[in-house]
Amino acid sequence: MLKRFANASQIVTVDSFGTGRKRGSDASCLNTLSGHDLIVENGRVKDFIQSNSPLTTPHRTVDVKDKVITPGFVECHTHSLFAGDRSAEFRMKLEGKSYEDIAAMGGGIVSSVKAIRETSESDLLSLLLKRIDIFVSQGVTSLEIKSGYGLSYEAELKMLRVIKKAASLRNINIIPCFLGAHSVPTELKNDRKKYLSIIVDELLPRIKGENLATRCDAFCERSAFSPVEVEQVFTVAKSLGFQLTLHTEQFNNIGGLELALKMNALSVDHLEVLRDDQINLFIDSETVAVLLPGVSYTLDYSYAPARRLIDSGATVALATDYNPGTSNINSIFLIMSLAARKLKMTSEEIISAYTINSAAALGISNVTGSLEQGKLADLAILNISNYEQIIYNTAQNFNQMTVKSGKIIYNKTN
Ligand code: NIG
Ligand code: FE
Repeated sequence: MLKRFANASQIVTVDSFGTGRKRGSDASCLNTLSGHDLIVENGRVKDFIQSNSPLTTPHRTVDVKDKVITPGFVECHTHSLFAGDRSAEFRMKLEGKSYEDIAAMGGGIVSSVKAIRETSESDLLSLLLKRIDIFVSQGVTSLEIKSGYGLSYEAELKMLRVIKKAASLRNINIIPCFLGAHSVPTELKNDRKKYLSIIVDELLPRIKGENLATRCDAFCERSAFSPVEVEQVFTVAKSLGFQLTLHTEQFNNIGGLELALKMNALSVDHLEVLRDDQINLFIDSETVAVLLPGVSYTLDYSYAPARRLIDSGATVALATDYNPGTSNINSIFLIMSLAARKLKMTSEEIISAYTINSAAALGISNVTGSLEQGKLADLAILNISNYEQIIYNTAQNFNQMTVKSGKIIYNKTN
């Protein structure tokens, strides 16, 4: 049966006119409708009709009076599957120690690795399900979740199995991402080659064979992997059909960005220390620049040059980078507020960045991220009368209802 989402004060379509992204100044145009209802058929967007016009075909009406409909939010970069507690590290950060100082003292990623290895799959699953539900309650309909705290053959597979299980228990689209090349595990500190061969010769083929992920990430930094090492991983990943994404230019510029663009990665994420002369590299590139202002806030350092990227025509997306070390932030609305104040992005650019452009970063913008005829009816229905109120109210979750493929999967009760 058809569904009619009726009487919305605004429908923010984020129409990309079939292009599946909003590059540069296109991100300023959201194509908003008022006085219209959204018609959904078989889980997909069928039409937009005048609110008072009759609909003779049998249908069910969902009254969304005085609410704003946006595309379901797409959260394209998270490390939501973690265990343990790194609050002592955060205290050290507040006292002035840097992320790299803490990593050198044996903290950082290594401490989350220990926790993942020591926690059972069923305990990890219940931690993860609660975190997924928090994203769903904010109107998120597509969510990326990375491995990368296992850092051994068994523990990386364990993480990906938990993510797959969680995906089967929830109605949103969960996109697993293999991040074996996040850090060299302590036990192989003196044999990096061995760890790289576990990734390339053992993990990638097994993950592909068991369909545990189709997306491969790495961390290209002095304290993690060099561009030469990332290239080894990416070459094999690409030949097996994985899509690529890279953590890069977070603390230094060692060639990660150039490598990722050369290999047509779907996205390059972080970019806090992007140099002026690297901005032009995005002009003709399909690779999405994913900005993570929660990291700059948490570590209290530079913000990515969002303004210059957008003004020169890049495709810019936003994400939380939710993780226990550098961005213990699961609020997409806080990220939007930081993007407004610290990245100097407009309301329109922020909504484009959290919908169609983050869908492009995940390679799913042909089916979601905007409300265009034939695309999935993935919606966030917000308790506001116009979209400007999102960033005006810092970090407030206005989501009333989350709709995935036309089905209401969350409806706030109070
Ligand atoms: O995206 N940059 C590398 N990885 C994570 C941090 C991981 C951690 O500290 O646990 C990030 O910032
Ligand atoms: Fe990250």
